Amino acid sequence: MIPTARPLRVLPGVRLLCAILLFGLSAAHGAPVTPPAAAIASAHPAATQAGEQILAAGGNAFDAAIAVAATLAVVEPYSSGLGGGGFWLLHLSGEDRSVFVDGRERAPLAASPDMYLNNSGELVPELALNGPLAAGIPGVPAALDHLAAHYARLPLSQSLAPAIRLARDGFTIDAHYRRLADWRLEVLRASPAADEQFLLAGEVPPEGHLLRQPELAGTLERIAARGRDGFYTGELAEQLVAGVREAGGIWTMEDLRDYRIIERAPIVFDYGDWTITSAPPPSAGGVGLAQMLGMLADLNINAQDRVTRVHLSVEAMRRAYRDRAAFLGDPDQVEMPLARLMHPFYLVGLARDIDPNWATPSQPPALQEAAGEPADEGRDTTHFSILDKEGNRVAATLSINYPFGAGFVPPGTGVLLNDEMDDFAAQPGVANAYGLVGGEANAIAPGKRMLSSMSPTFVESDQGVAILGTPGGSRIITMVLNAVLALTEGGTPADWVAAPRFHHQYLPDVIQHEPAAFDAEEAAALQAMGHRLEPVDPGMFGNMQVIYWDRSKQRVQAASDPRGQGEAKVLTGAP
Ligand code: DON
Repeated sequence: MIPTARPLRVLPGVRLLCAILLFGLSAAHGAPVTPPAAAIASAHPAATQAGEQILAAGGNAFDAAIAVAATLAVVEPYSSGLGGGGFWLLHLSGEDRSVFVDGRERAPLAASPDMYLNNSGELVPELALNGPLAAGIPGVPAALDHLAAHYARLPLSQSLAPAIRLARDGFTIDAHYRRLADWRLEVLRASPAADEQFLLAGEVPPEGHLLRQPELAGTLERIAARGRDGFYTGELAEQLVAGVREAGGIWTMEDLRDYRIIERAPIVFDYGDWTITSAPPPSAGGVGLAQMLGMLADLNINAQDRVTRVHLSVEAMRRAYRDRAAFLGDPDQVEMPLARLMHPFYLVGLARDIDPNWATPSQPPALQEAAGEPADEGRDTTHFSILDKEGNRVAATLSINYPFGAGFVPPGTGVLLNDEMDDFAAQPGVANAYGLVGGEANAIAPGKRMLSSMSPTFVESDQGVAILGTPGGSRIITMVLNAVLALTEGGTPADWVAAPRFHHQYLPDVIQHEPAAFDAEEAAALQAMGHRLEPVDPGMFGNMQVIYWDRSKQRVQAASDPRGQGEAKVLTGAP
């Protein structure tokens, strides 16, 4: 298990001990200085504005994070919300300390490893994706309360006010909402309260329609007044449990009452002059990034031509995702050899196993049939990045998993439930909705947190600090990898978020890529090395939000992914 008192650093031999002893006594990159501007980058303009309003009212980055997360719950109901979970990576400038707030959903206490299998022992994937049986116990309301209680300055009644207003007064439906509601139409129709909340007479509302969510406003008001108790106990909790159970789910009042936020030490490691701080298990992000960047540093990736770079990156991805499937899960229920998985000797060994000229097949071809398909969705779930004028930072990635989650709303609550249970390996070796396979480490168990790819990340050196992350299911970690490689080579946040993307996840054994990622010559060269290429619609490949505080130029820049509808703002006038 990772010690919670200090970050787990990956450094060679004796340096590891020194780093552990010294960390916390001195800042890794000198005395903290404050940035010349605040900034917010989120996936929706209304959320960015809500954060801006809260900063202007005297809130810090953590108050703004509450406002942004709650607003996204209202205006991006297909991505995240009170019925979901997420990870908040915080940096407290005053203490020069980063902390990881784990608000991941957990399996209900009545969950069992075979809950999605039929009588013949076969997986029924729809059960883990649609309706109340697919829903883990939400963590977002507890996380909002946790941030307010420990890090923020303003009362929840103030930081939740913009979201409450938008839920009550409404927001206008755009084409993206329409496309996703259409994709989940049958599931939304199957839940009377979801139908009522998100559809118009059983159909996808027209563009420009004003969508009001009075019951969600009421639930937000309960949280504003009573904090986590407003959600996890009392009348609302009873409505949630009754609604779930009446529709075939297994939640109990105990599940809600016992849900806890867990603060964990982030994964921290060095890549060249840069220090990367990212998500520990139950995210696979930080470990995966440490492994991939460890291999690529050994292979001197930046000195290679484009085709070799892609080949080596893909081979590093393949090996990291193999370990993900074999070893990673909920750190509170599973023993994981994390120190070994990120040890420099092990990573050099993996790197030297890469053939410079030839793709390594992931498995004997016969087994690849079981591997599933690359996901055809990739912009839901949401990420936002915040920097305040004191230098406090938030990178938060929040999810209800599939577009519109489980598509189920317990009547009277306005809370759309997640279908995060699909992130478990519901059957060893059988792929989930993102084509990911897993084993015992990520098997379903009561109260267990399902393994995630969400990877809120800081990348920091004397030159500057970046705050970043993205949605995209299994592709999240490799998108962050590509962004880290790009930013350590220069450029601006706008370049990093726009760069064409590619991804490999061990199984299926293909390079998923945006069409613009490779020209014909590069594609032919990669194929000649034995790689299979699979183009993915660019609109499906993430929605990254980045802030970069360039310390050498004392300048703040921010960018929102051109694939989405987000808004990034640098707030020079912020207090
Ligand atoms: O936690 C995870 O890894 C997933 N539930 C995230 C889902 C996601 O990013 C959906 N977007 N395509």
